[in-house]
Amino acid sequence: MPSWLEDAVFYEIYPQSFYDANGDGIGDLEGIIQKLDYIRGVGFNALWINPCFDSPFKDAGYDVRDYKKVAPRYGTNQDLCRLFEVAHKKGIRVLLDLVPGHTSEEHCWFRESKKAQPTAYANRYIWTDSWFYGGRDSIRFVAGEAERNGVYGINFFKCQPALNYGFLTVREPWQLPTDHPDCIATREALKDIMRFWLSQGCDGFRVDMADSLVKNDDENKGGTQEIWRNIRAMLDAEFPEAALVSEWSHPPRALSAGFHMDFLLDHEGSGYKSLLRDYRMNRENRPSGEDNSFFKKDGHGDIRRFLDQYLPWYEETKHRGFISLITGNHDTPRLRANLSPQEMALAYAVFFTLPGVPFLYYGDEIGMRYLSLPSKEGGYTRTGSRTPMQWNQGKNKGFSTAEPDRLYLPVDESPDAPTVEDQEKDGSSLLNSLKALLALRHKEKDLQATPNLRILYGERGAFPFVYRRGSLVLGVNPSPRAASVELGLEGTALYTLGSCCLEKGHCRMEEQSFGVWRV
Ligand code: NOJ
Repeated sequence: MPSWLEDAVFYEIYPQSFYDANGDGIGDLEGIIQKLDYIRGVGFNALWINPCFDSPFKDAGYDVRDYKKVAPRYGTNQDLCRLFEVAHKKGIRVLLDLVPGHTSEEHCWFRESKKAQPTAYANRYIWTDSWFYGGRDSIRFVAGEAERNGVYGINFFKCQPALNYGFLTVREPWQLPTDHPDCIATREALKDIMRFWLSQGCDGFRVDMADSLVKNDDENKGGTQEIWRNIRAMLDAEFPEAALVSEWSHPPRALSAGFHMDFLLDHEGSGYKSLLRDYRMNRENRPSGEDNSFFKKDGHGDIRRFLDQYLPWYEETKHRGFISLITGNHDTPRLRANLSPQEMALAYAVFFTLPGVPFLYYGDEIGMRYLSLPSKEGGYTRTGSRTPMQWNQGKNKGFSTAEPDRLYLPVDESPDAPTVEDQEKDGSSLLNSLKALLALRHKEKDLQATPNLRILYGERGAFPFVYRRGSLVLGVNPSPRAASVELGLEGTALYTLGSCCLEKGHCRMEEQSFGVWRV
């Protein structure tokens, strides 16, 4: 286990929209370098950067054309190495985004693979043996696009042909078993990409659709797990301090596959969703109807809907790695779409004090809004969560010196749009409450990643929610009414939001409050 994960707090950067250092309207690596002091100042000591590799950008870079080349719009490979170097000097680790399941249709492997005459890359992707195929599998196929007499499987959009790691159960003559040399070659090609960046200073990877590698896999994704265990063995031997976090949202499977961390995502029925995004969405991706999120003040929150999913996974995985809670990401609606800054502050307080390794999506630290925008680069309804970072009230909110019509996406021009500069000056801002919380987390070992959680009070439909980590007791009451519970404990407050105390054996919490006490 990389030792630095114990105190790691991650900041996710969508590079298009973070900071444009050269004034061409789109964010770049130099822009990230220039903002590292800001990031460190808030309390983050690790980054996850969305794909910054050469790409036709039909899916914002998740359609990689060349894994070993930085997309010119962000800079050069040298700039990326400089980012590693400067970040390390400031005590910040950098994870890149690894897309192992598919490439762009413009990747040279795919161009070779689709030729009529077989090449060395013929089996690098999943092809049937005839141009006409009804599709009996769960894979989606694209027909009529290649000279080759076959149709090819895709992982996401049409532009993202699925790489071939084999089939756990072979049902058709064109399906290769996972131990076929050509499938092993795909895995080895992935390792080669990882080595390429790790040996230049990268600290690991966020892994896209990590569960998607082997097809006709079993219920546990056993075939896919096997591949990751093989890759983890390589890391342990060659890059023991490199970290892997998976987009899987099933910690028992992901951590037994060898990932150090796994994200809890807003998938249907997930406990994570019940905390923050328990609403239906209309066509514009806006929350509509009732919102039952736990952190919604007037919601009908129920912490058990989270705990009933989280605790069994936590118990099952606590000796193997970490669960990663996220404030959001480039695929989810911004939290500010349904939560007020005060509700967000309470949510962050819990997210950054539960065990595991938490992630914050850029802009969530100031409560950036979700904007209704036309789709950009395959973003569709996700586009509204990908707008430029709001640094100050200057031109383009300080994101870029380009003319507004040249920006990658429009900035939030509403007069009350939150900015870093305004919130830095306001002692009670979301940004400053987060800063103080992260400072506490870095200082108190009991609040870091190691699983040491005990639930003191977490009852169905009731408030507050109180938990213990080592010598610290933490409580939250997001509801609009005061709530208290007898614990037989007394404590000294280390951090509070709103009004609350742990005195005379009781944890007393006014509406919308959070506290950390040493007992
Ligand atoms: C998950 C990524 O987070 C998302 O943005 C992307 O579109 C798909 N995977 C496909 O790579």
